[in-house]
Amino acid sequence: MRTFAIANQKGGSGKTTTSVNLAAALGEKGRQVLVIDLDPQHSTTAWFGIKNAGKGVLGIFAENGSMLDLVQDSGVAGVDLVPSSSWLVGAEKMLAGEVGAETILRRNLDRLPPDRWDYVLIDCPPTLGVLTVNALVAVAELLVPVEAHVMALSGLAQLLQTVEVVRDRLNPDLRVSGILACRVDFRTRHAREVVEQLRQRSGSLVYRTVIRENIRLAECPSFGQAITHYDGKSAGAADYRALADEIISQEGS
Ligand SMILES: Nc1ncnc2c1ncn2[C@@H]1O[C@H](COP(=O)(O)OP(=O)(O)OP(=O)(O)O)[C@@H](O)[C@H]1O
Ligand SMILES: [Mg+2]
Repeated sequence: MRTFAIANQKGGSGKTTTSVNLAAALGEKGRQVLVIDLDPQHSTTAWFGIKNAGKGVLGIFAENGSMLDLVQDSGVAGVDLVPSSSWLVGAEKMLAGEVGAETILRRNLDRLPPDRWDYVLIDCPPTLGVLTVNALVAVAELLVPVEAHVMALSGLAQLLQTVEVVRDRLNPDLRVSGILACRVDFRTRHAREVVEQLRQRSGSLVYRTVIRENIRLAECPSFGQAITHYDGKSAGAADYRALADEIISQEGS
């Protein structure tokens, strides 16, 4: 079971779009995927049209609940979901200063049946608070979607610094699996330059796959569908399938 946190404290960088569509693309290739919505905005949960989430993932933080009891069928082939809800807003405050708060999610992931899912993808909120730290402590791999604008790259150093601290203190296994350039509009020179700059700075940490700006990706949440289903022939579907292939191909080496 490979475990990924999909994180970037910068809002609107493509975390949710990547969580849902990468999960669907992996599911399409016959893999079993568990998506955990760790964002109080619960965009992933809404995308899958889940309405009976209750307090969702808050249960493991507030009530010592079991994650397995929270798993729901997402409606997308091969993809299950642990939903979130706006109740999770209170979690940051509630957990601040609580002993062992950073390891709650990890202890829950450790208790999942090891053979049921091939991938766990955690959609993080746009903060570096205790929820995101929980994700970084729980997983082995970090996937960082970045919007292809110069401004969007500036937060990357801070995120990578947090990764260093988490690795030193709480999770020596954590590694940056990849930085994913999202919303790249190759028609503009600016976007091409930003991707180039990212590759120069971060080299092998950057996925070969790039997610292009694609209107179909922006549309599909309103229809409650992943891109592979909403428009399987779109550039967005091609890009997320390519990312799934790239991630699977890492397993051969
Ligand atoms: N490749 C793309 N092409 C076009 N639109 C995109 C693409 N990727 C994301 N978007 C749009 O950009 C917006 C932000 O994307 P998304 O919600 O995935 O980011 P996020 O990092 O999860 O945001 P937040 O920090 O609020 O959780 C959404 O409206 C989404 O539809
Ligand atoms: Mg999001």
